[in-house]
Amino acid sequence: MTYRILVTGSAGRLGRAAVKALVAKGHHVIGFDVRPTPGLPPGQSLVATFGDVAVLRAAMQGMDRVIHLAATPDDAKYPRGTPPDDGDNFLDGLVPNNIVGLYNLLEAARLAKIPRLVLASTGQVVDRHIDAKQIPLTGSARFAPRYLYACTKVFLEAIGEVYSREHGMAVIAVRLGWCPRDLGQVAEIERSVEDQDVYLSPGDAGRFFAAAVEAEAVSGFHVAYATSRHRTELIYDLSETRALTGFVPQDTWPTGATEW
Ligand SMILES: NC(=O)c1ccc[n+]([C@@H]2O[C@H](COP(=O)([O-])OP(=O)(O)OC[C@H]3O[C@@H](n4cnc5c(N)ncnc54)[C@H](O)[C@@H]3O)[C@@H](O)[C@H]2O)c1
Repeated sequence: MTYRILVTGSAGRLGRAAVKALVAKGHHVIGFDVRPTPGLPPGQSLVATFGDVAVLRAAMQGMDRVIHLAATPDDAKYPRGTPPDDGDNFLDGLVPNNIVGLYNLLEAARLAKIPRLVLASTGQVVDRHIDAKQIPLTGSARFAPRYLYACTKVFLEAIGEVYSREHGMAVIAVRLGWCPRDLGQVAEIERSVEDQDVYLSPGDAGRFFAAAVEAEAVSGFHVAYATSRHRTELIYDLSETRALTGFVPQDTWPTGATEW
């Protein structure tokens, strides 16, 4: 069975991986990003932002699935500097995109009666348990967010659960592992065995998103983890993800890390 799927953030690191895997499986994919989406013809690559509510709502019409990846990404450092330059990007980056933009997305999905959404959360919502070696982590682990970006993903999981419960949509909030966005991040993962254990290859990311949209009989709200295979220690328990979607990772660090 093939679906009509809207992917937001489709030109980004994980968006491109999702689009590639979904197109390969014969799904009809519409990209939504502030820049054109590689791998999609112009007619299927919408160039817009969440502020363009009319475009967003029109894009939702007739969709079977929505994969929501567009967001302001995490800062490597928090606060960004030392006083007096110790600010953050909460008000000017995270709130407009990860809170207001997410709300616009969910409202558009509710109005269009989208049956299933996959929302990009992050393993950073339970980050502090890893430092405390309280692993492996399941979907029911108490929130222990890293910084302010992770707090916006706690909100994403909370509002995802509300929209699922109140509006009857199936929502999978996926706590994604680390898929490096540039060579600096590749080098960072190379230096840390723990980071290698939460690595998510583009290939496995694509397989996860395909499994999440294709899985039969998904209803209600779910938290899932998506990583590649761990090398030394199991940090995120993938058994709930496997039971829900059938996803089984195939790669280990560094497979695919520098395939952009
Ligand atoms: N890459 C990772 O390791 C990782 C880990 C955990 C969670 N995530 C989450 O996965 C999602 C995708 O991450 P990524 O690494 O691909 O990020 P990315 O920065 O490579 O891609 C994000 C894309 O979203 C687009 N975008 C941002 N704001 C937008 C807006 N308002 N309207 C339209 N498009 C917008 C950007 O142009 C970009 O192409 C994000 O939600 C991120 O928080 C990523």
